[in-house]
Amino acid sequence: MSGIRKIGFACDHAGFALKETLMAHVRGRGLDAVDYGAFSKGRVDYNEFGESACRAVRSGETDAAVLVCGTGMGMSITANKIAGIRCAAVSDPYTARMSRRHNNANALALGARVVGEEAAKMILDEWLDARFEPRHQPRLDKIVELEARERRA
Ligand code: RB5
Repeated sequence: MSGIRKIGFACDHAGFALKETLMAHVRGRGLDAVDYGAFSKGRVDYNEFGESACRAVRSGETDAAVLVCGTGMGMSITANKIAGIRCAAVSDPYTARMSRRHNNANALALGARVVGEEAAKMILDEWLDARFEPRHQPRLDKIVELEARERRA
């Protein structure tokens, strides 16, 4: 296990059904799921919901975020604008696992129009079960340095 116990979920209209499925899935695994919206399948922008779930990771309110939109792209691009968030947009279990092991991803973006329900559950399970390998920490430190340089630019 990776130490992720409490997961924040966010979606837009395209990701709503898959978000509900994945929240039930992690609860079935005995983990906590916190819903940052959207709360219905009505058409909405992904931005605010993704931002809320990522800010909760940064503040320590949750351990990780799972973000679902049509492709995973809008959510991941948004998430990676937030300092301290390392969001992986993933559509296969191998990348999911490696994004934890090598990149210590603390957010996972999924495309509900890209992966089916069962594949998404498998991807999420791989992601939750993988552990960061600390030998990769120097590269993550360089990302933090880049964020600092960008703030000063
Ligand atoms: C909504 O139609 C779609 O653009 C959105 O869910 C997402 O795929 C954007 O990246």
